[in-house]
Amino acid sequence: MSDVLEASLPFDLLAPQPADALLGLITLYRADSRLDKIDLGVGVFRDDDGQTPIMRAVKAAEAALFEVQTTKSYLGAEGDALYTELLAEIVFGDQASSERMSGVQTPGGTGALRLGAELLARANPDAKVWLGSPTWPNHAPIFAEAGLKTRNHRFYDHASAGVDFTGMLDDLRDARAGDVILLHGCCHNPTGASFSPDQWAALSNLCETRGLIPFIDLAYQGLGDGLAEDALATRTIFAQLPSAILAYSCDKNFGLYRERVGALWVQSGNRAIADRVRMNMLSLARSLWSMPPDHGAAVVRTILEDAALRADWVSELGSMRERLNGLRRLVAAAHPRLSPIGVQRGMFAMLPIAPAVVAALREDHGIYMAGNGRINIAGLRAETVPIFTQALMPHID
Ligand code: LMR
Repeated sequence: MSDVLEASLPFDLLAPQPADALLGLITLYRADSRLDKIDLGVGVFRDDDGQTPIMRAVKAAEAALFEVQTTKSYLGAEGDALYTELLAEIVFGDQASSERMSGVQTPGGTGALRLGAELLARANPDAKVWLGSPTWPNHAPIFAEAGLKTRNHRFYDHASAGVDFTGMLDDLRDARAGDVILLHGCCHNPTGASFSPDQWAALSNLCETRGLIPFIDLAYQGLGDGLAEDALATRTIFAQLPSAILAYSCDKNFGLYRERVGALWVQSGNRAIADRVRMNMLSLARSLWSMPPDHGAAVVRTILEDAALRADWVSELGSMRERLNGLRRLVAAAHPRLSPIGVQRGMFAMLPIAPAVVAALREDHGIYMAGNGRINIAGLRAETVPIFTQALMPHID
């Protein structure tokens, strides 16, 4: 090959990339032929049969859409505006109609996070984004790919299996006005640990006095303590602060994972700024994905528009939450070291075990979990809790 030709092959310069470890678990689990294997890996809800069902209201809304939808023509970069409006009421309650708020539909929560990151990078490229340790492994790459610097602050205290709030505040002393702090609105991924209401209030005050911008990731509303309860922290923050951002995902609470349904809301100082924020969100979205996929958002809109479908969704979501919290109580009762799992919330908990033990549980017992010891509680069943805890016992003190 000539030098000229070789130099024109820029892909030769690409560095190899590791496969996503979390998504890799799906393939590993599928390839395991053991019948008694247990999947506690990727965060999808599972019922007592180990299935990730399509929710009843979703099925009904899909059938209704099939009948009434007459076109697949473009909607525009903002997506389905009524979807975003109805969902905003679920998230923000009566703060939803504030003229300082700009919201658009996005492809999943990841799309919302990325759009928010691009907006921040355009508004203030010097802003640093503060992430708790640990956090969802995709957070850091999303902000870094948008060109923003990230910094870590302490969040999880392994000894107490709760929040290290003192350590977190200590680390945040280095945060500067205009920096962004990423907060999980409820059901922390991967730890399940939550801030107390007092700690949320303190964080809101900290953001106000120091000029930090809270960026809330709300991906599990309704799977912790209830729809309104899981939005309480978000509402406190948005009520107090002039500027705040929220990335939302309907993956888990509507079970719409692969349909990629999310939204981004940005609150700013006044209506005129909110209009400019919106224009920027739309121009960024246009260059990122042009328009978000419609089907899942149309399903959510159909559910929220119809009183009966909405009631059925709320009720099924309540059963999902009860299943998760019931399993939490069972695991918590098995060993004192596991008792914090009973008070933690959401789909996840972090086991106090080393990566080598994670590998041994997979190889010897067919129990699959993320490399950091994160388990998806929904992957358990009442019958498999004792099998799981027995396999785990020798490895916790
Ligand atoms: C998870 O954390 O397992 C889920 O949010 C799935 C994902 O995209 O990582």
